[in-house]
Amino acid sequence: MTMIDSSPSQNSGAAGEPSAVRLETDGDLAFIVIDNPPVNASSVAVRSGLLDAIEGMSADPNIKAGIIIGAGSTFVAGSDIKEFGRALPPPELPTVLAAIEACPKPIAAAIHGAALGGGLELALACDARIALADAIVGLPEVTLGMIPGAGGTQRLPRLTGIAKALDLVTSGRRIGAREAAKLGIIDHVVEGTSLRDGAAEFVRALSGKRVVAELSVPYEPEETIAAAEQNALKSGRGREAVAEAVKAVKNAAVLPVREALAEERATFQRLRNSEEAAALRYNFFAERQAGKLDGSAKARAVKTVGVVGAGTMGAGIAAVCAAASLDVILVDASAASLEAGKGRVTAALTDLHRVGKLKAASAEEAAGHVAYANDIAALAGVDLIIEAVFEDMQVKTGVLQRLATTVRADAVIATNTSYLDLDQLAEATNRPQDVIGLHFFAPVHRMRLLEVVRGAKSDPAALATGVWLAKTIGKLPIIAGVCEGFIGNRIYAKYRAQCEFMLEEGALPRELDTAMEDLGFSMGPFAVSDLSGLDIAWAMRKRKAATRDPRERYVGIADQICEMGRLGRKTGAGWYDYSAGSGRGAVDPVVTELVQAESRKQGRPQKAFAKAEMQGRVLGTILNEAALLLAEGIARSAAEIDLVLVNGFGFSKFRGGPIFQASRKTPAEVDAMVEAAAQATGFGFRRGDVASLIAGVGN
Ligand code: COA
Repeated sequence: MTMIDSSPSQNSGAAGEPSAVRLETDGDLAFIVIDNPPVNASSVAVRSGLLDAIEGMSADPNIKAGIIIGAGSTFVAGSDIKEFGRALPPPELPTVLAAIEACPKPIAAAIHGAALGGGLELALACDARIALADAIVGLPEVTLGMIPGAGGTQRLPRLTGIAKALDLVTSGRRIGAREAAKLGIIDHVVEGTSLRDGAAEFVRALSGKRVVAELSVPYEPEETIAAAEQNALKSGRGREAVAEAVKAVKNAAVLPVREALAEERATFQRLRNSEEAAALRYNFFAERQAGKLDGSAKARAVKTVGVVGAGTMGAGIAAVCAAASLDVILVDASAASLEAGKGRVTAALTDLHRVGKLKAASAEEAAGHVAYANDIAALAGVDLIIEAVFEDMQVKTGVLQRLATTVRADAVIATNTSYLDLDQLAEATNRPQDVIGLHFFAPVHRMRLLEVVRGAKSDPAALATGVWLAKTIGKLPIIAGVCEGFIGNRIYAKYRAQCEFMLEEGALPRELDTAMEDLGFSMGPFAVSDLSGLDIAWAMRKRKAATRDPRERYVGIADQICEMGRLGRKTGAGWYDYSAGSGRGAVDPVVTELVQAESRKQGRPQKAFAKAEMQGRVLGTILNEAALLLAEGIARSAAEIDLVLVNGFGFSKFRGGPIFQASRKTPAEVDAMVEAAAQATGFGFRRGDVASLIAGVGN
């Protein structure tokens, strides 16, 4: 058995504080243990601890070699992303890596959990890399708007070749230890013994130093590299971080390594301070908070999921559960609906297989997780039920009541309502504690957002079950309270209405769509309407017509478009004309005429809108509604509202989100935008505390 003698820390922190790195000796080996919970991120304490430890082992004549290893559940998850928003405190990572290379004794990295970003760069500067089979490695910097900054773009290609390095660095993809071993990144995968023992054995057999930076880049044909470059640039869609990563990796073949390292560092420093990197960091931390629940409630155990309603949403939900290898029973009343549902499930699973998002090896295998039934009675034994029938209070109430008396007493009952009052639905079941909302977005198998709705009486464990489901099926859970439209649809309704106000004041659909696309939305609101169909919103407007306050500003243009039978792409025309076939849709003079005639009729002053004005009004509208949602406790934070707009409404994650964007403006600019939105809305505009909302972004 190996005995480890702990030696005193080389970099003890303040009195009583555990140090982030400690040196332990085992015979002639030194274990340099990184202990910086939760994920051993390479913070300044870790970097200076490493320097001390390397110095310590170098000076000790009894030590022949060193092994860097992580305490806890992982090696090093990367540089400390929290430090990236300001000047990096010295020593910086390249200094540490240079010390490893300059150390006359070999130093290896022993990897378990994850070696990502700066963590993998640390390992690449070592003389050997040993890993457990389930460890993962990767350079995800481009997903944070940067490039690797501590030699990743220079050392990796010396092991894998340029083409493979281009793929890994520009995609940020994480790969398992076995794949990494095949590519030459990992020298040895430990099996049948502990990581420490396996690493010790491997290192004792090393003949000396092997400095990766001094290796030559393996030869590859020009065409192989050119193909990898094209592929990377195509997937990178014009993003600067990707283009810079390509350039840096290619430098490995042409520049002296020290020169290429200096260039890489300079690019990293520049991109680290970019707006895109700041937005992506904001998203990163927001996502980590999103699934966290207040309190200690544990999810109820779920093995089988029941889905009621085999329409577009229900079938999509069944498919994403099956894709995660959950067993599903999909219920619909008629054989024909079930048959159609089966087709939708298969189509979604085939699509998920195509993009590599199936746990199973094939769509057929995943489809085997779905059973079909024509009666709710089939759900008597399931653990979680998701009701996805027609969006109508009476219909949903009937189904939920039936479910409540059919399913087990400890089962969670979720409804996929978009607009109905969850508390009213929950009360109708007589077991409101078991009821939550799971608001999926269409197409379910593509959209990452899932609003997990907390009813007034939802048991925290039922809510935790919803969050658990979201994570299990690869969705991003955002907890929302009960109100019409929850977070996303409530903001979107105000945003659309504001765009329609501008239609009435002289703007045209294409101008507005283009302005919104420049603001950060992947599609403008009129193009979105055409894609999803105008009829659902039309039906809802008709339902609400009787209760609408006549003093509220109401734009009737959309109703007139619908009355002309223009219901969007599916009818060949909507806000735009699609008669030319696929594509963006052409501006239609009929719509232009209609918009202008209606505007004249309303007697609103007409003007030419500057793009910034359109964007400012929309941003003001979104911010105000977001502030109300936060104050009402419907949303938990500004960052979670941004996540909703990014993951459910196509706002660019590279711009953080509308609230993040507003946090880059002055308070006076924000006030002016909200004021413009208020003026245009007129009656019924409730003002939210936008300043507090933006303060929550916390830059
Ligand atoms: N820097 C700072 N904090 C980090 C971090 C990093 N590189 N990586 C993770 N964290 C923090 C998270 O914010 C979270 O903090 P919290 O508990 O205060 O919310 C905590 O570590 C745990 O992270 P989480 O993602 O919830 O844990 P996990 O076990 O699900 O996943 C990882 C672990 C390592 C796979 C995942 O955290 C990850 O992918 N990290 C990012 C790695 C990365 O991009 N590195 C490159 C940086 S250039």
